[in-house]
Amino acid sequence: MIKIENLYKSFDGLEVLRGVNLEVGKGRILALIGKSGCGKSVLLKHVAGLMKPDKGRVLVDGHDMCCLRGRDLFTLRNRLGFLFQSGALFDSMSIFDNVAFPLREKTKLRANEITDRVMNELEQVGLLGAEEKFPSQLSGGMVKRAAMARALAGDPEIMLFDEPTTGLDPLTGQTILDLIDSCHRRLKFTGIMVTHEVPKIFEVVDAVAMIDKGEILLEGTAEEILKSENSTVKAFVTGGRPRDIE
Ligand SMILES: Nc1ncnc2c1ncn2[C@@H]1O[C@H](COP(=O)(O)OP(=O)(O)O)[C@@H](O)[C@H]1O
Ligand SMILES: [Mg+2]
Repeated sequence: MIKIENLYKSFDGLEVLRGVNLEVGKGRILALIGKSGCGKSVLLKHVAGLMKPDKGRVLVDGHDMCCLRGRDLFTLRNRLGFLFQSGALFDSMSIFDNVAFPLREKTKLRANEITDRVMNELEQVGLLGAEEKFPSQLSGGMVKRAAMARALAGDPEIMLFDEPTTGLDPLTGQTILDLIDSCHRRLKFTGIMVTHEVPKIFEVVDAVAMIDKGEILLEGTAEEILKSENSTVKAFVTGGRPRDIE
């Protein structure tokens, strides 16, 4: 379970998060929406323990991410998969080595076991046959899928997706959303997905939270979000990604 309590974060006087409270129950997946630059990625990085709060805390299964050190932090990070906004594959490594990387770093699996796992993950994301290729040889959608395979390789209990479909054409984007949906059903991880894909993601997620001016403006089910009379929420729901809110 992920619990964010009264989280504050500023950068050089710029207040990005101003008392965020949010909870994601075990096995559930929450969509985090909001304008560009409102602090969605910053929030995810706090959940992953990659940033430290100025105030407040992030609890993952009851562990305060800010206070974990050494082995405890390592153990928790091992249970967590992060799909970064950029895809963030290692350009100099083949797709196989990219997906094998976390398994080699985090587990004591033998080489043949790693091969089995990597091939299995690549099959799940529809990339069998591309294992010898390098990221520069793949399309944007394939890079995202490879990054998904890498994030999922360690069977994470917690998955964080940062704009998994941004920059992809609508069809490829839908394929990635379907893939997240099927992986979630199969692995039952607890997840947060930062996304602009409203209303498309309503079928994939259990709840939606909108961040605005450093706080959670609204949190609820897809129906509750759809019914909201709040103009900022409405702009997202009806317009998807209108220019005036970017
Ligand atoms: N490491 C950092 N140092 C300074 N400012 C940062 C850093 N990370 C994010 N910010 C600032 O915090 C704000 C929110 O960023 P971000 O979370 O990336 O927005 P988004 O909602 O688009 O993901 C932006 O103004 C960004 O410039
Ligand atoms: Mg971002």
